[in-house]
Amino acid sequence: MESRITLIPGDGIGPEIVREAVKVLDSVADKYGHKFDYTKILMGGCSIDEYGVPLTDEAVATAKASDAVLLGAVGGNVGNSKWYDVAPNLRPEAGLLKIRKELGLFANLRPAYLYDELKAACPLKEEIIGDGFDMVIMRELTGGLYFGNRYTKEIDGLETAVDTLTYNEEEIRRIAIKGFEIAMKRRKKVTSVDKANVLDSSRLWRKIVHEVAKDYPEVEVSDMLVDNCAMQLVMNPGQFDVILTENMFGDILSDEASMITGSIGMLSSASLNKTKLGLYEPSHGSAPDIAGKNVANPIATILSAAMMLRYSLDLDKEADAIEAAVATVLKEGYRTTDIMSEGCTLVGTDKMGDLIAERV
Ligand code: NAD
Ligand code: IPM
Ligand code: MN
Repeated sequence: MESRITLIPGDGIGPEIVREAVKVLDSVADKYGHKFDYTKILMGGCSIDEYGVPLTDEAVATAKASDAVLLGAVGGNVGNSKWYDVAPNLRPEAGLLKIRKELGLFANLRPAYLYDELKAACPLKEEIIGDGFDMVIMRELTGGLYFGNRYTKEIDGLETAVDTLTYNEEEIRRIAIKGFEIAMKRRKKVTSVDKANVLDSSRLWRKIVHEVAKDYPEVEVSDMLVDNCAMQLVMNPGQFDVILTENMFGDILSDEASMITGSIGMLSSASLNKTKLGLYEPSHGSAPDIAGKNVANPIATILSAAMMLRYSLDLDKEADAIEAAVATVLKEGYRTTDIMSEGCTLVGTDKMGDLIAERV
């Protein structure tokens, strides 16, 4: 099979981790007789440097014309980079928001499970880890605070910043349906996370989620306030199957969930729309503190590439092969710095990519 893949290496560690994911994809192509045609586009700080904007319309057109998009990460050292003090639509992150909106990627799936081999890298106590955990966060991705009106102006003589949080029923309904659909393929349990004790948008969220729930009688649904959820994640992570939540809460909770899998370098993600075209990226950022040092963990990006094969290209057994190769390499004791523990073998970004590619 021949597929067109748009690659967005981005900034910081982005190019290093995408390189490793491509290595693994090439190994899949060799073994299973596929052809992946890659087209690279610029997004983020590198695009600002080249074109003055974080994502050009031509780059969007390239992404739209492909079968899937694989992204590293974008952005600089926030607060202390040449890309910070500029208008909101000219910041590196605006490129990411633009591509999510342009491709209609409203559903962001972030799986967080603990590999047995990484129990030592998990910061939780053994009795809390128990038999481990396996959850997915279904994060709404094209609404809420990220896409509301945003401005800073003088109000009553004071410099005032405004960010608005808006959701309509349709935006909530379509992500809720995605959440219940995935729950049906898993342990049939949805925890809808909101802040309905304060926010109107959360009250609407809760109402619509329960309307949708009526179409999925087999799924056990419950509500949880987001502050409680943050606490429950480290107190009893095994209770979660599908966490269904809005954009900002999903952003924060997924970083928290990533750490209990051992490292943020382990958490993959898929951003999906109503078609087959999806965008796949690690949940972490461009990690400017470790960029260029060959220490970044490429596994989140490699697992995102596996999700790409599964969801956009219908290559299920190839996706399974990548996931199995990751598990094998972890079983063999190879670790990047972020997941290193006693008795294991420390490897760099490139070596980790080589090992996984070899074992596909
Ligand atoms: P970050 O996720 O880049 O880094 C947080 C911490 O985790 C750092 O200490 C970093 O070294 C570490 N880390 C991240 N990925 C790692 C990996 N693969 N292996 C080992 N360690 C890893 O978050 P941040 O520092 O808050 O943000 C840095 C930049 O990234 C900002 O410009 C931010 O806007 C951007 N960002 C981009 C994306 C994206 O492109 N999808 C996501 C999050 C943050
Ligand atoms: C993520 C990132 C982005 C987000 C930023 C860079 C806009 O943190 O993908 O988790 O908040 O969605
Ligand atoms: Mn984030």
